[in-house]
Amino acid sequence: MPTLTKNSLNPDPIQQFTLWFNEAKQQEEIDATAMTLATVNAAYEVSARIVLLKQADEQGFAFFTNYTSPKAHDLDEINNAALVFWWPKTERQVRITGKVEKLDNTASDNYFASRDKNSRLGALASKQSNVIPDRAFLMNRFAQLQEQYAKHTVVPRPEYWGGYVLVPNAIEFWQAGEHRLHDRFLYKKVGNQWQICQLSP
Ligand SMILES: Cc1cc2nc3c(=O)[nH]c(=O)nc-3n(C[C@H](O)[C@H](O)[C@H](O)COP(=O)(O)O)c2cc1C
Repeated sequence: MPTLTKNSLNPDPIQQFTLWFNEAKQQEEIDATAMTLATVNAAYEVSARIVLLKQADEQGFAFFTNYTSPKAHDLDEINNAALVFWWPKTERQVRITGKVEKLDNTASDNYFASRDKNSRLGALASKQSNVIPDRAFLMNRFAQLQEQYAKHTVVPRPEYWGGYVLVPNAIEFWQAGEHRLHDRFLYKKVGNQWQICQLSP
């Protein structure tokens, strides 16, 4: 990879992200949409897990989940969160912080409707992160739903499932460099403008 310079970066971090994301999608053996989402609750308990990026645009970084899950409870209490991508083939990391908002119902309905039927039924079958006795319990619930919806093509989105968007206030682009002298550029939102500075590795 050529060394990163301020002049080679897009002044808009979303466009810069899209460029790196597209290169990662072409080159990575792993799922380039997988990102770590870190949240914190009101008791300062921090947790992190992988979710999949479904949309990145001027609005922010969107993902879908269960609105009754532990991550959703965290976000209900404190809506500051962080995302991290690692793309090993391109030797790049992107770190994003910001505030998380629920997507509107139409956006969640549209995405839910785009999933295949069994994935929609899977969302209905799972109370995410609840304790279950065994896998058979889950598969029985899934089989019941398959029967219930056998004659229906439409599976309505449950109200406890939907999307969030993280609206960024800072985005850092990291690219591996020789001798561990990596390139790091931080975009910070100041008012309506993005300011870019270079960071020591
Ligand atoms: C590759 C990968 C992709 C995942 N994508 C999602 C996702 O898009 N949404 C989601 O709710 N959970 C996803 N998960 C599961 C989460 O990591 C996590 O187990 C689940 O959301 C429960 O998290 P919570 O208990 O912190 O709320 C994914 C896991 C992996 C390994």
